[in-house]
Amino acid sequence: AVSPKPRHLLSIASLSPAELGYLVDRASHYRHLIKTDSFSIEAERLTLLGHTIALLFSKRSTRTRVSSEVAINYLGGHPMFLGKEDIQLGVNESLYDTSRVISSMTSGIVARVGPHSDIVGLSAASSVPVINALCDTYHPLQAIADILTIKESFKNLPGLKLAWVGDANNVLNDLATACAMSGINVSVATPSAYPVNSSVFANVRETASVSGVTIEVGHDPLAAVKHADVIVTDTWISMGQESEKQLRLQQFAGFQVTSQLANKGGAKNTWKFMHCLPRKPLEVSDEVFYSDRSLVFDEAENRLYAMLAALDGFVVKQGELE
Ligand code: CP
Ligand code: NVA
Repeated sequence: AVSPKPRHLLSIASLSPAELGYLVDRASHYRHLIKTDSFSIEAERLTLLGHTIALLFSKRSTRTRVSSEVAINYLGGHPMFLGKEDIQLGVNESLYDTSRVISSMTSGIVARVGPHSDIVGLSAASSVPVINALCDTYHPLQAIADILTIKESFKNLPGLKLAWVGDANNVLNDLATACAMSGINVSVATPSAYPVNSSVFANVRETASVSGVTIEVGHDPLAAVKHADVIVTDTWISMGQESEKQLRLQQFAGFQVTSQLANKGGAKNTWKFMHCLPRKPLEVSDEVFYSDRSLVFDEAENRLYAMLAALDGFVVKQGELE
């Protein structure tokens, strides 16, 4: 089904809090079906039968690619992977022309790009829904999976405190937005050379003023983790920032997540650790990463259920999230 004006999933901020809640609940529903081996008998099992979804990836991926292909397969559709070496985009063809052509033959586009403007351009020219599979500013599928992961671990979201210790990046932007929508207090510590995105956080604060949560932004990891229920980080060097590696390593000194940091800063005894992966030991010690506190592998698996929810919500239901 192709609607004249498709609804896209470009960032969490393009959802209402109720719509985010719907997608998280749907993801939880898919999780249950798959875990209990009862997906095959569900009505939604073949809702993408005969449909092709283009996976347009200009950057590497493990989780997003695997979860996309597996989710599309669960729904009976065909995933068509188009890596940057495979197609004319960027070498012989513009983003606009590529989007017009791909969307004329497929039912949806899952796209991983560099600049946010690319996902905006792609979606503007597309006649089918575009799902952002990561750009330099947002990573909505990760945030849906992360809220699901927190919900499974803590049951009730309102009143929790999530501390982000690390880079002010794409994963933080959508996660902070999703937390503000879900009643989770957020405390961020980034190196002073890497402050949070001011327009994204203006939006986060506006959402927080409605939901009644606190948003703290600073540069002190110890202060950030105080009373935290969840401590989250991500790589210090995102894809596309490889040339800044040496400088970043210096500026992130003291930002590694360790038990010592959590203890000294006064995180709750029951604190949990999250990381979207891929992970390097720089940003979190092995002792935390592989501990019982670590939710990282559930979080990674939850990407599958988040992708099922996103495909169902945006491609099958065409953005009618209710
Ligand atoms: N978390 C995440 O998006 O991982 P990939 O880059 O492997 O897809
Ligand atoms: N911030 C990281 C996330 C990878 C999933 C990056 O953009 O490379």
